[in-house]
Amino acid sequence: MQVKFATALERQAPALLVGIDGHGNTLSASLDNALLELLRCAVEVHKFCGRFTGKFGQSVEVIAPPGSDYRRLIGLCIGAVDAVDHKLLEKFGGAAAARLGQLGEREAAIDVKGLSESESPHAAAHVAFGAALRNYSYTFARSRQPEPSEAVKLLALTMITSQSVTAEALYRSISVQIGAIHYARDLINTPPNVLYPDTFVDLAKSLVDIGIEVEALGPEQLQELGMNALLAVGRGSAFRPRLLVLRWNGANDPTEKPVVFVGKGITFDTGGINLKTTEWMKGMKGDMAGGAAALAAVMSSAGAKLPINVAAVIPLAENAISGSAYRPSDVIVAACGISIEIMHTDAEGRLALIDAIWYARAKMEAGTIVGIGTITGSGIFGLGRHYAGLYSSDDDLAERLTQAGDAAAESLWRLPTSDKYDDDLLSNVADYLQITPFEFGADGSYLMRLLRHAAADVPWAQIEMAGLEFTDRDTFTCPKGATGFGSRLLGQFSKDCAHPSECKEV
Ligand code: BES
Ligand code: MN
Ligand code: ZN
Repeated sequence: MQVKFATALERQAPALLVGIDGHGNTLSASLDNALLELLRCAVEVHKFCGRFTGKFGQSVEVIAPPGSDYRRLIGLCIGAVDAVDHKLLEKFGGAAAARLGQLGEREAAIDVKGLSESESPHAAAHVAFGAALRNYSYTFARSRQPEPSEAVKLLALTMITSQSVTAEALYRSISVQIGAIHYARDLINTPPNVLYPDTFVDLAKSLVDIGIEVEALGPEQLQELGMNALLAVGRGSAFRPRLLVLRWNGANDPTEKPVVFVGKGITFDTGGINLKTTEWMKGMKGDMAGGAAALAAVMSSAGAKLPINVAAVIPLAENAISGSAYRPSDVIVAACGISIEIMHTDAEGRLALIDAIWYARAKMEAGTIVGIGTITGSGIFGLGRHYAGLYSSDDDLAERLTQAGDAAAESLWRLPTSDKYDDDLLSNVADYLQITPFEFGADGSYLMRLLRHAAADVPWAQIEMAGLEFTDRDTFTCPKGATGFGSRLLGQFSKDCAHPSECKEV
């Protein structure tokens, strides 16, 4: 989508969208009186019918009279709010893109003048950012033409703002995030017969074009390094496991220790010998969503040329079922040296991660490690789909991640980890059990007790995002399907690491 910023429309636009407040007043400083009156009447009619109550996202449309600069005028309600912040503006932009798409408009202008009380110089950038986030679709191998009732994608958007220069500069600086988020969504939406460890690596190789170093270890190298936990997970699949390492070396001091994001990259999770039920297997092409988020964060860091070292380690494997699959009761020794008794082959995420976190610490000398992935369904049961779980014994790191999540509209909720959980994990035949036999709900707290052996003394946190990788309905900033959750949060965290004192706005 092409985005332009202007103080006034230079030529006719097919559609013009303006804001409406919770009382139905038009928030536009540039409409002429006749059009204002037309829109006002339409709002009155909608109020009368009960279709306009002042709630965020309600819209009123009119066909403009002949001779107007627009053929269609759309009023979109921003709701009854005292303060308009950047998250609300993004939601507004997303709602605008969705509505314009439903109406079949591919080209439109949004009037931001008057939307926020004293129009903030950044308002138009945030509205455009939200519109771009929402303006996504994934159709892959579908050749059937869209039905007239289906939403179209916007191709061109003009933002009308009195602050066009500042807004445009900010938009250009934050829009690197959009490409990264959309890329993560694409990876997650890609069918698992197309995206598997080798093809994931092939795709990632194109990141060298933006200055990212790409390295990928194959099964033999994993074997040499003793990464038996990751190898065990991949053993039942015809697709061989890989470890993908992406590095953005932006720091002036090349010896600066990198921030390393370790993202779970299970390209499909059948559950293995402890096979999943049909219902739970449905979304399992998304079991690499943590890996996609880690990749996206490095991608946007490179796009923004952040002056720090940021890296991603993505353990890639398919958890499949076959005669060579690992099984319950197997004992494996992870690269960090602990032996683990396998209890359940569907608890594969912690095995993939334990070796990848070890690699980040022992082979990359990470300064900070943030793990992310769809590791345990207990995350969905505990928090639902509006928060991801956050685990860390490092209060400072937990606080910084929570703030980044807040700014990125990807909220985290901290959950416990402590040695109280340890006794439940003792195995008779190995150092540890892979999962506790006693609880399901606190699975995230337990798996932290295994992973900590890999992270050792490096500041480390885990983000549990099971259930957040897909949305089963359209949201204001994401159509139904893969969300790209975590991409923006980790991108924001990288940015905060690079510029610790700046305001945490985008
Ligand atoms: N990939 C799943 C977790 C998951 C569940 C993600 C639902 C998204 C939606 C993970 O590998 C898994 O299967 N975990 C098990 C752990 C259990 C055996 C302790 C689970 O959640 O059932
Ligand atoms: Mn599993
Ligand atoms: Zn899994």
